[in-house]
Order: sequence, then C-alpha cells, then structure tokens
Amino acid sequence: MTDQIVIRQLNEDEVPPYELLLDADPSREMVDGYLGASEAYVAVYKNETVGIYVLHPVNASVAEIKNIAVAGRYQGRGIGKLLLNDAERRARAYGFKVVQIGTGNSSTGPLALYQKRGFEIKDIKRNFFIDNYAEPLFEDGIRVKHMIVLEKEL
Ligand code: ACO
Repeated sequence: MTDQIVIRQLNEDEVPPYELLLDADPSREMVDGYLGASEAYVAVYKNETVGIYVLHPVNASVAEIKNIAVAGRYQGRGIGKLLLNDAERRARAYGFKVVQIGTGNSSTGPLALYQKRGFEIKDIKRNFFIDNYAEPLFEDGIRVKHMIVLEKEL
C-alpha cells in the first residue's frame, strides 16, 4: 500500500490532524508551540490522512523531526519508514547536515525504528517530560521521564 501513499505539505489554512500529532506528543501546548515554526507533511492514502511528520529548523545545519505519527490501524505497514525517509530527503534538500529526533525513554517502538534507520543516540535530556509536561506520562507501564535524542548525518 505504501506505493499508493502521497506525502504533501500541510497548508497553513488547514486544520492540523491533532489526533495524530497528540499520539506522538500528548501536549497540545507543545505541539502548537512548534507547529508555527515548522513545516508539517501529511501522508495521504485514498483521501485519508494516515500519517504526519513535523520538520523544524534548529539551526543552519540541524533539522529536528519534532513529531512523527501514523494512524493506529495503519501502523506496522511501512508508513513510518516512508515518512522518516521523506523527512531526511527534504532536510538534505534544504541543505541541513544533520537530522535530529527525540523520544521518551519508554518509546521502544520509535527507538527501534530510528536506530534501524541509522539514527544514533547522542544525548539524554534528563527529566525533560517531568519538567515540561503538566501531567505525569506513562507508556506501557513505564514512567516517561527522559528524552532520548538521536541524530543522523545526512
Ligand atoms: N517495536 C519494534 N520495532 C518497531 C516497532 C515496535 N513497536 N514499531 C516499528 N518498528 C520497526 C518495524 O519493525 C520496522 O522495521 P523494518 O524496517 O525492519 O521492517 C520499522 O520500525 C518501520 O516500521 P513502520 O511500519 O514503518 O512504522 P509505523 O508505520 O508503525 O510508524 C511510528 C512508526 C510512527 C512510531 C508509529 O508506530 C506511531 O505513530 N506510533 C505512535 C506515535 C509515536 O509514538 N510517535 C513517535 C513519538 S517521538 C516523535 O514524535 C519525535
């Protein structure tokens, strides 16, 4: 099915697919904070928005994927990989040298995906999710505390 997916930029006048964005990042405040200063790209399958990623310039050489998500019933079919590849390709075309992505200590799926795609762990922002989120977060019974920052050279 991935050959039937079109990835296109989300226009500024469109309502962002918050259900997807909040699945990757449960803070609406954080999401709205970076959406304005980023580009969002959606994966569309037969007129349905099935995935999203948000690309944010950190500085002249580093771009960060702030958010990446695939709708629940479409997960595990290669769309996440497609989105990640597209984000890397776009960041490279813009002239960035490094692409960065951060995820919670509890996010074993995303950590597997990113490392399989060549991202290396660069940093741990200790207590990031305790200090920046109003409510305690849990995922698969694990307290979400630290942000694992991964990087890939383009
Ligand atoms: N455990 C182990 N491996 C996994 C898992 C998992 N839970 N999920 C994906 N992978 C691996 C797959 O095995 C696959 O490997 P392969 O290339 O060897 O076959 C690879 O990652 C790609 O899998 P896809 O099918 O492309 O991934 P999917 O379409 O399911 O998208 C995503 C992955 C985006 C993480 C999706 O599961 C999702 O939306 N999850 C909920 C939101 C989320 O957690 N987003 C990331 C938060 S961090 C951030 O946004 C910056």
